[in-house]
Amino acid sequence: MNSERSKDMNITWHHHGVDISGREELLGHRGATVWLTGLSGSGKSTIADILSEILHGRGVLTAILDGDNIRHGLNNDLGFSPPDRKENIRRISEVAKLFSSFGVLNILAFISPYREDRNFARSIQGENEFIEVYVEVPLEIAEERDPKGLYKKARSGEIPSFTGISAPYEEPESPELVLKTHESTPEECALQIINVLEAKGIISSES
Ligand code: ADX
Repeated sequence: MNSERSKDMNITWHHHGVDISGREELLGHRGATVWLTGLSGSGKSTIADILSEILHGRGVLTAILDGDNIRHGLNNDLGFSPPDRKENIRRISEVAKLFSSFGVLNILAFISPYREDRNFARSIQGENEFIEVYVEVPLEIAEERDPKGLYKKARSGEIPSFTGISAPYEEPESPELVLKTHESTPEECALQIINVLEAKGIISSES
């Protein structure tokens, strides 16, 4: 809610005694959001899983928020029209912001095809705590992989507005990282993200 609206609604922000710096001290790392964006079948969820496992092993508190899973619960009222996708990303951006304020290192895996929506997520998270990762793969390869058989259905018209086929995907203009999953293994991709997290001081290299 923007400040004008909260004023109109007579809502004020309450500051709590235990704040983000206290939680970060407890955990030994900073809260942040790794935002994986890319086509369906690009490898976002696979990278998210491996990244989470490695970080967990290093004592970092992670949370994976994945489009397919979130659409089973929190966002099960949303479809794939542009306004629904916008609302999907708006809600999850707010969840990520909340979690990171608790010190969690979020790993998000959403197609998030619209630049404006990803920029919204960045704007509420804070520049240094937002790592946009473009999981890039040629459409032909994502379609060849077709792990859920959805591209086939999209081509036959069974699924309308399918990203890359009948709905747009807007490539990131200046992501923190580009990963080419047809050229590197998921492990190599995860390690590249870890390098960025270390370089930004979100996790320490000893953790
Ligand atoms: S987003 O575009 O709103 O960010 P999200 O990441 O939540 O999408 O969900 C994408 C997943 O929903 C895909 O991996 C796929 O399994 C499924 N899906 C079902 N219909 C569509 C569609 N029309 N376009 C893209 N993905 C779809």
